[in-house]
Amino acid sequence: MTNQHQYEVIIVGAGGAGLMAALYASKGAKTAVLSKLYPTRSHTGAAQGGIGAALGNLEEDRAEWHTYDTVKGSDYLGDQDAIEFMCQEAPAVVYELEHMGLPFSRTKEGRIAQRRFGGHTNNDTGKPVLRSCYAADRTGHMILQTLYQQCIKREVTFFDEFHVLDLVMSEGQVAGVVAVELATGELHVFHAKAVIFATGGHGRVWEVTSNAYAYTGDGVAITLRRGIPAQDMEFFQFHPTGIFKLGILITEGVRGEGGVLINKEGQRFMKEYAPSVKDLASRDVVSRSMYIEMREGRGINGKNYMYLDVTPETVNKFAEIDGRVRPDGTPYRVTGEEILKKLPDIIDFCRTYIGVDPMKEPMPVQPTAHYAMGGIPTNQFGEVLIDENKTMLPGLYAAGEVACVSVHGANRLGTNSLLDIVVFGKQAGLKAAEHAKDASFQPLPDDATDFTRQQLDRLLKNSGEERAADISKEMKQVMSADVGVFRTEKGMSEAVQKIRELRERYKKVGVDDKGKLFNTNLLNTWELGALLDVAEVTAEAALARKESRGAHAREDFPKRNDAEWMKHSLAWLKEDKIELRYKPVTQTKYEPKERVY
Ligand code: FUM
Repeated sequence: MTNQHQYEVIIVGAGGAGLMAALYASKGAKTAVLSKLYPTRSHTGAAQGGIGAALGNLEEDRAEWHTYDTVKGSDYLGDQDAIEFMCQEAPAVVYELEHMGLPFSRTKEGRIAQRRFGGHTNNDTGKPVLRSCYAADRTGHMILQTLYQQCIKREVTFFDEFHVLDLVMSEGQVAGVVAVELATGELHVFHAKAVIFATGGHGRVWEVTSNAYAYTGDGVAITLRRGIPAQDMEFFQFHPTGIFKLGILITEGVRGEGGVLINKEGQRFMKEYAPSVKDLASRDVVSRSMYIEMREGRGINGKNYMYLDVTPETVNKFAEIDGRVRPDGTPYRVTGEEILKKLPDIIDFCRTYIGVDPMKEPMPVQPTAHYAMGGIPTNQFGEVLIDENKTMLPGLYAAGEVACVSVHGANRLGTNSLLDIVVFGKQAGLKAAEHAKDASFQPLPDDATDFTRQQLDRLLKNSGEERAADISKEMKQVMSADVGVFRTEKGMSEAVQKIRELRERYKKVGVDDKGKLFNTNLLNTWELGALLDVAEVTAEAALARKESRGAHAREDFPKRNDAEWMKHSLAWLKEDKIELRYKPVTQTKYEPKERVY
């Protein structure tokens, strides 16, 4: 049986982007949010170190500097008009969150506290600037809770644990989505004038990741299967500091507070790679430097990890060497109490998960798959663009990590993801409500649920000749080995072949649980199919891009090549094949330059 519902705006995903979109859409349209999780379990809650905004609360800062840093951080692949818009909007959205009740950490004067983060600088001196507005190391968690409370206050309708598996189109326009209700296994059709995807990223493609289990690329896979391209998928960020083997995020805020990366020789190696900002270079630069150190035998105990040291003794030693001062001119020195107050969660994670006390000893860290710069192509209003001519698809929107606006280009700066979700979540919500005002509901096709049913029935009926766990493991291995921090033609070609083979084998995958109620076995297996589609697009787009830029570092093409490659990739999934096309980057004020940190 199929249940049917009608809302003017449907939002898929209840992380920060989805909730911000819901708040704004619900002001002008009958709105519902569908989430495969309970909303406050969304992955936004894992974001730690802060949200970027040039408030200048502790020292001089400007939105123009934030804009330039983001363009530079993106390795000149970000669209400069969208970046400028985001950075100009940043102070207003941060104050908006503050007024909603978000419990930011405070300066002693009572202003929102700000810390340093990678790639954010005073453009006059080139030195790190205090730009990241934080709530200890729980900033994403606080954003998520605050926005959820606001949505409840506004009486936004939520369908929790409704897993969206398809987008319904009618006469070239959006007509709604199909979802499985986890508790009953029943299919529901949500008839809508506008759909906003805010489903997050796909870090679960890789072995070691900071991403939640739910980060399985659903939004990108669903839209690819409906003929919508994915943009810049070759760019996936590896955050330098995940807990060794576990991948759990250790915030860049640690380095913002003065923590340093150390190799086996006890050296602060980042001073060799980024002499000006050292440990606070952009993430692509730091992750690559760590790989080089490990490859050259300077990993700790000869293994693939480094130390991240935030013990007060080490912080104070390097602060003295660097001549670091506080905004009032006094020497920067920290106490254990201050570190504990600013970084309580990561200290707790290390004590709990690995028995390491960061107050007394260094943390073992390695780069961890963290963030998708690519995704569903949109403009700065969240409107989905379906080709290289920027044609819009009426009624379809995307915001947050699932979207590619593109403000992060080839490499995102830390703190800009939380900024992205609130700025563009809001824009998408406003635009979707505006669209709903004038648009009518498209007729629902009779076969609205057919595609979903076929996918689920196949998994339920298959004998299980292939096991999802095996396919998942092999996908993660090949993507980590060959489409990770460093890449080569040979490795990526092998990865493409392997992923194609795995997608074939996936057709024979079965599930053990054939029941209807809470069938997570079935839905997790469906998610694996989404990951495989996304993995293939990623590997093929990466193989095609014959240059190095941001997070895409090719050993066989080590230089950035603006003449040929300063362009966005668009990938279509066509009858199990990937078709690639390109569109220009929007450049306004900033000429591409060599990036020096
Ligand atoms: O390091 C962090 O706290 C992560 C922040 C981000 O990805 O923006």
